[in-house]
Amino acid sequence: RGAAAAKPGSIPKHISLITLTFQNSALILIMHYSRIMPPSGDHRYFTSTAVLIHEVIKFAISLTVAIYEASKTLAPSTPATVLFEQIYNGVFSGDGWKLALPAVFYTLQNLLQYVAVGNLDPVHFQVLYQLKILTTAVFSVCLLNRYLGVTRWVSLIILTIGVSVVSLPSAGESIESIFLHNVADHFFPRSQHELGFQPDMENSEPPAHLSRRSASYEGIDGDRFPSEPIMNYSVGLTSVLIAATVSGFAGVYFEKILKESPCHNSVWIRNLQLGVYSIIAAFFGGVVWQDGAGILEHGFFEGYNWVVWCTIVLQAVGGVIASIVIRDADNIVKNFATGISIVVSFFVSVWLFNFPVTTTFLIGTSLVLAAVWLYSAPERGRSRPAPLRIAS
Ligand code: C5P
Repeated sequence: RGAAAAKPGSIPKHISLITLTFQNSALILIMHYSRIMPPSGDHRYFTSTAVLIHEVIKFAISLTVAIYEASKTLAPSTPATVLFEQIYNGVFSGDGWKLALPAVFYTLQNLLQYVAVGNLDPVHFQVLYQLKILTTAVFSVCLLNRYLGVTRWVSLIILTIGVSVVSLPSAGESIESIFLHNVADHFFPRSQHELGFQPDMENSEPPAHLSRRSASYEGIDGDRFPSEPIMNYSVGLTSVLIAATVSGFAGVYFEKILKESPCHNSVWIRNLQLGVYSIIAAFFGGVVWQDGAGILEHGFFEGYNWVVWCTIVLQAVGGVIASIVIRDADNIVKNFATGISIVVSFFVSVWLFNFPVTTTFLIGTSLVLAAVWLYSAPERGRSRPAPLRIAS
């Protein structure tokens, strides 16, 4: 119940939720900017290296807290080797291997998030990504035997309609794409080349799915980015839909192991177990398999600048906060916090990326926000403080 009932040593629930909302908004905006800004060198940074580094940072944070917590249970004179042995045994014994599955799914989700955010504007990404509320709910029912009342099922239907409306092309967007198509023509030789558009097609139109750009093409304060890659809407849409599904499964599976396993490990030990497999998956699946050839040619830190580092650190911190929210509340509550960040992203995108507001978009987003609000109604009711009883 509410913040007042927080266990000693744990962070009050509303603090982690508010932090998660702002972390999420900032992350998506800065991640989008890191994908559209002109690269500092010849090449934009490799997203797999960013995912690997963020996993290593998250591992270091979890290890620090795990050491701190273990040290509180031991006598001050205990040698450090005993402390490390205790943590090592916690991580590498019991059912830690079960976290290999969510680790692989989370790594896939984190890699896809970069693809989606690089190909969609931040607000479309945020709204479409809310489908994870639906997938999380379905997996919570299947894996955790959670009960969802009628209100929540109704809100899930509204959510699905809202997301569908937002993903529909609208009249406003057609005008926008015509305008941006003209802008694209201006810089076309480079874009054609980057996309493998053949020279013999020079006089023909580029395929529609390659020419669609968002208003972020205009960049901050109207400066255009001639080297900005074309944003491919269908790639962005597919990535965000897969990421939303994977997010639902990975989150609920992690929660199941954390809360239902007879091993009763702390969230920090669970994060370390998750981290070991995530680092392996990010290294082999991302750095070696996805970007191996490019990294060998250009180097691991090609294209890194302060924006990329901010993205990585924000994502690592977000992962740690997400795990605290899953421990203290659940995945469904976590999704409300990130759902609210649509509003923050919306205002910042209009201001920073000249985001065009269309009627279809407003209707769809209102439906999504209404669904988030309706879905959280039972939760809000539960966390409301009990009325004070005045002794008579
Ligand atoms: O989009 P979603 O809310 O599912 O993202 C959750 C994020 O939190 C993912 O980037 C995931 O890697 C991270 N996470 C984590 N440790 C956990 C649970 C989630 O780093 N124990």
